[in-house]
Amino acid sequence: MAYFHLYFTGYFIDICLSNTTDMKIAVTTASGSLGSAIVKQLKQEIGKEHVIAIARTPQKAAFLDVEVRKGDYNSKSDFDAALKGVDAVLLVSGMDHPDKRIEQHRNVIEAAKENGVKKMVYTSIMGAESGNAFSPVVASNRQTEEDIKNAGLEWAIGRNGIYIEPDLEYLETYKKEGSIINCAANGKCAYTSRNELAYAYCQLLTNDKLNGASYNLFGEAITQQQLTDAINKVYGLNLSFKSISVDEYIKQRQAALGDFLGTVIGGIYEGIRNGKFNGTSDFTKVAGRAHLELDEMIKGYQQNE
Ligand SMILES: NC(=O)c1ccc[n+]([C@@H]2O[C@H](COP(=O)([O-])OP(=O)(O)OC[C@H]3O[C@@H](n4cnc5c(N)ncnc54)[C@H](OP(=O)(O)O)[C@@H]3O)[C@@H](O)[C@H]2O)c1
Repeated sequence: MAYFHLYFTGYFIDICLSNTTDMKIAVTTASGSLGSAIVKQLKQEIGKEHVIAIARTPQKAAFLDVEVRKGDYNSKSDFDAALKGVDAVLLVSGMDHPDKRIEQHRNVIEAAKENGVKKMVYTSIMGAESGNAFSPVVASNRQTEEDIKNAGLEWAIGRNGIYIEPDLEYLETYKKEGSIINCAANGKCAYTSRNELAYAYCQLLTNDKLNGASYNLFGEAITQQQLTDAINKVYGLNLSFKSISVDEYIKQRQAALGDFLGTVIGGIYEGIRNGKFNGTSDFTKVAGRAHLELDEMIKGYQQNE
């Protein structure tokens, strides 16, 4: 009996170990800023042999030093091949026009279902599904959330705050203009950073206790004046914040970035003005620690420049 117990316990331990040693987690758009940050974090947490980088342009993901597989969101057959033997996949929200994104994401979801993937985690976005120029993007993200919930797999969804990095990448322009100019007025915006998100998504991928729920992932919401003050403090600058009308700002952005991206960016600041990017964060629940403070995120970016 004692022998049977030992044998059985050993067998059970073997099964558990073999499950973890064979585990594979794949990340889409791995050549991108968020995808690559998540791959790097996963490598640290579960080891590079368990991580697969899926990229539309595989050579652009080679630097990650993990197995790379091809995956263009327009091709379901790419994902049928890329998801073979994968236990969990992180679907990073695409960049295309909202109408196209839904079908592109469905290519990944269908391939995951048909190829035995057990769990899907999705990087969605906070914000209003209607009422501003960014809403079509949010609405398309909500549709993908529904598609994932209905896929029959284990799932977890993150609703990301606004990335802090684009503001910091834009600093030279702000310096030339002496101001941060947009249409957010006194609205509060919940920011985050790609590294903070990478940390949280690693937990969503590896901690099954978080399955079956959606989580808001961002830090404390701040006004554009607070953002300007924090940037001034860290970089030793004297920028001011200037708010202009929504129409004027969207027109400016369209002229600078083209119709699609200009409308998307303008719509984000319109949403901030109207309080649509303010909310209660679930970051601590997911990450097991508090989100970085605003000045810590800015300093972190400055140190990596
Ligand atoms: N929360 C926010 O503030 C915020 C801001 C911007 C974007 N986003 C969302 O977050 C996502 C990730 O952002 P990011 O900063 O990592 O973007 P990024 O650095 O610009 O990377 C975009 C990635 O998407 C890949 N890609 C483009 N078209 C694709 C397709 N048809 N199939 C597969 N991959 C494709 C690109 O691959 P290649 O290397 O082949 O070009 C690249 O790896 C974005 O897609 C967007 O949905 C959120």
